[in-house]
Amino acid sequence: MADEIAIESSLREKRRFKPDPAWSRRANLPGKAAYGRMVKEAEKNFQRYWARHARENVSWFSPWKKILDWKPPFAKWFVGAKTNVSYNCIDRHLEGPNAWRRNKAAIIWEGEPGDRRVLTFGDLHREVGTFANVLKANGVKKGDRVVLYMPLVPELAIAMLACTRIGAVHSIIFGGFSADSIRDRVQDAGAKIVVTADGGWRRGQIVPLKKMVNDAIRKLPEVGRVIVLRRTGQDVPMRKGRDVWWHEQTEGVSPECKPAKLDSEHPLFILYTSGSTGKPKGILHTTGGYLTHVATTARYIFDLKEDDTYWCTADIGWITGHSYVVYGILANGATSVMYEGAPNWPDEERFWQIVDRYRVTVFYTAPTAIRTFMRWGEKRVKKYSLSSLRLLGTVGEPINPEAWMWYRRVVGRNRCPIVDTWWQPETGGILITPLPGAVETTPGSATRPFPGIFPEILNEQGEPCRPDEGGYLVITKPWPGMLRGIYGDPKRFREQYWSKYKDLYFTGDGARRDARGYFWIMGRVDDVMNVAGHRLSTMEIESALVSHRSVAEAAVVGRPDEIKGTAVVGFVSLEGGVEAREELRDELRQHVAREIGPVARPDEIRIAAGLPKTRSGKIMRRLLRDVAAGRETTGDTTTLEDFSVLAALRSDED
Ligand code: WT7
Repeated sequence: MADEIAIESSLREKRRFKPDPAWSRRANLPGKAAYGRMVKEAEKNFQRYWARHARENVSWFSPWKKILDWKPPFAKWFVGAKTNVSYNCIDRHLEGPNAWRRNKAAIIWEGEPGDRRVLTFGDLHREVGTFANVLKANGVKKGDRVVLYMPLVPELAIAMLACTRIGAVHSIIFGGFSADSIRDRVQDAGAKIVVTADGGWRRGQIVPLKKMVNDAIRKLPEVGRVIVLRRTGQDVPMRKGRDVWWHEQTEGVSPECKPAKLDSEHPLFILYTSGSTGKPKGILHTTGGYLTHVATTARYIFDLKEDDTYWCTADIGWITGHSYVVYGILANGATSVMYEGAPNWPDEERFWQIVDRYRVTVFYTAPTAIRTFMRWGEKRVKKYSLSSLRLLGTVGEPINPEAWMWYRRVVGRNRCPIVDTWWQPETGGILITPLPGAVETTPGSATRPFPGIFPEILNEQGEPCRPDEGGYLVITKPWPGMLRGIYGDPKRFREQYWSKYKDLYFTGDGARRDARGYFWIMGRVDDVMNVAGHRLSTMEIESALVSHRSVAEAAVVGRPDEIKGTAVVGFVSLEGGVEAREELRDELRQHVAREIGPVARPDEIRIAAGLPKTRSGKIMRRLLRDVAAGRETTGDTTTLEDFSVLAALRSDED
């Protein structure tokens, strides 16, 4: 990170979209005035405001003695109260005025090979109770960590909810991670039990999950139990005395398991994020505050109604899946669609088939997926009616205005509001976002903070930035879903998030706020370059490149340069059918100069067949920086999705 931060932010977007009045009238937050009242309420007393949401959106066994105990950087929310997450996601939909939801679909699941299952809230109650009893029978006690390494099948949600039912702490490892990553995480979490499956389906192939687990824990005798779900059906080696089958364990077991009355601050889960350096970070979330945050934000941002069919395409192994496939959605008694496999299996229309088949109403995905759909061509989407859709969302990275407009037109048919939601694994839930029906949107901006969230943009000295001046994004007041620590490493927690500015949460993102108060997130500040004394956001240059009709995807990195300090290198992949002409490189350089300004003009354009990405679809700029500088890659590449892409980039060097 350079020493001064006047991040120059030059992209200007003029298009605006007002909420449709008919839409607003029906919304859970019906229009601007209601929104204004909520903002005022939160500003007046943010603790009382969150306490109101905690009462309205979460059921408690006993009340709190104190709303917030804040000893920076350690927060406790709803101190002394007791609740249970599985109770909130299941049981309360079987009782009282909501008892009719017993036979409402909680999970609509589709496997990649085309198999389908629907689990009602009643089914979920039985399955979760049964598996909670299985966990207990296998020695799992309150506070124990349970590692889940599973495909995207209903049993993953069942296992999560079963853990929460008895107060065990789950740590989900995304099914794309390798044996090494599993071993590090199992060890760091100190887990003695792993729940996995024989395999999962991905692009027609079996991902050998059980085999991976075997390799990972071969030298970890402390893992005494592995419960294996049969999913793909091939033979897998089972180690006697350690490995048992899910279907045998659950046979004849009682489905009745009382939800434990857990303290609001009882640990709920640990989720590892790889971070840019070596050791994985275990982000720790707890019970009452987290649930309040995800249930409340899901209700207002996704505008969940009794008859909605909501689909978030994220894997449950990411925070997005934890918060907005499972917990926030089921807590609202809403129906959550889950799909196991790849978007292009058996062809590029799979997602749209799913939307039409179940008549999905709310659809939440990532900008990288949207750009992929763009590359596959809008014909693929236009073939489908998609008439059930009423609201679209994105998360994961800044969305370039071209992709936003395409999403609105081709998927939303100019009819659906788009919520561009900014948050992080550390924040637990969404922090900056439009509220559909109340906030005017503009392509590329996550707009305003969710009421009750207080972000600020500061310069290096800790002073607030002027409108449109780029700086560091911080959150100035605690919020209920905030991480409670890095598991087992309070020192790293302080250093990483709380040392840059005293008692303020440092997000690690650069951003600017415009004169209207809208936030424009520029991505991780590690991705900001200092070019000839100007601080430029790689994301803005990428956005400019992608706005050129020939470019499908772009990644921009800096390369050490004797004269300018840093030279700008743009890696691009082209739209289908576009030829990699030599003149195109110059054309693209000029295009960026026109869109942003001459200082941002890339010094070099490299045309590549594909860009190296993590399994969550983020471009691995660290690797591209090495390629651009002609260095060997020394860092961790275990999260890379497709190794051949990196090899191809290197062999392309001249
Ligand atoms: C980083 C977190 C829930 C996040 C899942 C990925 C970037 C996320 C947006 C958005 C601009 C965004 C930020 C954030 N980000 N959403 N709507 N607009 N940037 O988790 O991989 O740890 O990434 O994603 O830079 O810090 P992650």
